[in-house]
Amino acid sequence: MTKCYPTVSEEYQNAVQKAKRKLRALIAEKNCAPLMLRLAWHSAGTFDVKTKTGGPFGTMKQPAELAHAANNGLDIAVRLLEPIKEQFPILSYADFYQVAGVVAVEITGGPEIPFHPGRVVSLNL
Ligand code: HEM
Repeated sequence: MTKCYPTVSEEYQNAVQKAKRKLRALIAEKNCAPLMLRLAWHSAGTFDVKTKTGGPFGTMKQPAELAHAANNGLDIAVRLLEPIKEQFPILSYADFYQVAGVVAVEITGGPEIPFHPGRVVSLNL
């Protein structure tokens, strides 16, 4: 079965590229790649492959999510990312947190991960 990805505007694609550059600088400066990877993982970890429910909905900044013991410390990631996110209101939080994880893998010497945008937030954030 071929995968089918959402389509986003050119403006959105450009914002992803610009955000990636800013994320590279932030993550290198703050040495916070592990934290960003963990944020992306915890954001996505609710996905259930059998029922196709859950997944990265960009809700990690919600107090209820941050209060979960498994998410301990991820408020730091949310706080570090907020000044960059503010510069890209077009991007969904759901995409943005995953891009942060992609960049974290990339700048620590991992493979370049193809990023497919178009995730929507499940709440009106
Ligand atoms: C269900 C399986 C997993 C469990 C139970 C688990 C548990 C934990 C725990 C307890 C920590 C320490 C958090 C702290 O500093 O207080 C941690 C850190 C971390 N986890 Fe996991 N983890 C799991 C799966 C994963 C996966 C799949 C990834 C990567 C995609 C991942 C990436 C990380 C990273 C990068 C850190 C370090 C974060 C930092 O240093 O700031 N974990 N994990």
